[in-house]
Amino acid sequence: MTNAAGKETPRRKGPLRRWPEIATVAVLLLFLGAGLLYFDIPYPAGLGPRQPIPFSHRVHVHSKQVSCFMCHTEAVRSSRAGIPPLETCLLCHSRIIRSHPYIAKLRQHFARNRPVIWERVNWVPEFVYFEHSVHIQRGFDCGVCHGDVSAMDRVVQARKFEMGFCIQCHRDNKATTDCFTCHR
Ligand code: HEC
Ligand code: HEC
Ligand code: HEC
Ligand code: HEC
Ligand code: HEC
Repeated sequence: MTNAAGKETPRRKGPLRRWPEIATVAVLLLFLGAGLLYFDIPYPAGLGPRQPIPFSHRVHVHSKQVSCFMCHTEAVRSSRAGIPPLETCLLCHSRIIRSHPYIAKLRQHFARNRPVIWERVNWVPEFVYFEHSVHIQRGFDCGVCHGDVSAMDRVVQARKFEMGFCIQCHRDNKATTDCFTCHR
């Protein structure tokens, strides 16, 4: 372009010449990042959902040797294994790493009587009846169905609970395969 005086309009030199493009790209990246955060980045395979307090089974079960039954007390006697109430955590954490930010958050929940809403990981469809106690009382290890939870920082569903998986083990152990056992 030339102006009335016949001179070239001065152009910016170097990388600054492209500042509008750079700014546009930067803004788009910001939006993309915010969007991913807002809609929660899909978690990578082998890692379960992010929990409100990053509780680690690896730390508690593998490193600190806490038994599954200390927290999942219901597994032996009821259909559900149960997720422990905050009181269970505080049996230890009223003393252990009290000032750790996540433990402070935990104590805050407890003080305000607001339970932590843990993200559910394992499911069977509603028309399937499952019961922990019968299986635990027969001596099956949690790992048969849940994999090696002691190695997990974020619990992942170790396997799909397809009908064939349940039936196969029932057959192998001469347990009932009557439809009404699992579909009531
Ligand atoms: C110190 C307490 C504690 C101990 C010990 C513990 N758990 Fe857990 N478990 C939790 C809490 C809290 C959750 C919910 C948060 C999460 O999913 O990480 C949970 C979640 C789970 C889940 C997923 C539940 C769902 O939503 O489907 C499984 C499966 C599980 N635990 C199995 C085990 C097994 C097997 C062991 C022993 C090897 C064990 N846990 C030991 C506290 C514990
Ligand atoms: C039997 C005792 C015990 C119980 C019960 C227990 N913890 Fe812990 N927890 C520990 C110990 C020991 C550590 C490791 C402390 C350290 O690193 O010095 C720990 C570490 C942690 C950490 C620190 C971060 C990490 O992963 O290293 C968090 C968060 C935590 N526990 C959350 C919980 C929650 C939530 C519960 C209840 C569902 C719970 N704990 C129940 C003993 C316990
Ligand atoms: C025979 C297979 C099997 C075994 C063995 C088993 N589970 Fe489960 N577990 C399941 C299934 C299936 C679900 C999903 C149930 C549902 O959606 O109602 C589940 C769900 C859970 C849950 C989340 C919901 C609840 O029930 O409170 C926890 C926690 C859990 N299991 C812990 C354990 C622990 C701890 C053990 C060992 C003591 C164990 N399970 C042994 C099959 C099993
Ligand atoms: C590791 C082997 C194994 C797996 C896997 C398994 N079961 Fe079982 N289940 C058994 C055995 C053995 C019994 C009989 C227990 C007894 O009566 O002593 C049983 C009993 C039951 C019962 C109680 C039956 C009654 O007599 O009332 C139900 C319900 C059940 N299983 C549902 C399921 C479902 C649903 C699944 C799949 C999500 C499943 N099971 C997976 C071994 C297994
Ligand atoms: C030991 C437990 C168990 C027994 C016994 C059982 N089922 Fe199922 N069934 C399941 C589970 C678990 C599912 C869910 C499968 C899934 O989500 O992929 C299921 C799913 C189904 C479905 C839905 C379609 C599908 O395949 O996902 C039908 C239909 C069904 N069962 C019919 C039957 C009939 C008919 C019988 C008797 C011959 C029977 N079931 C016995 C555990 C059982």
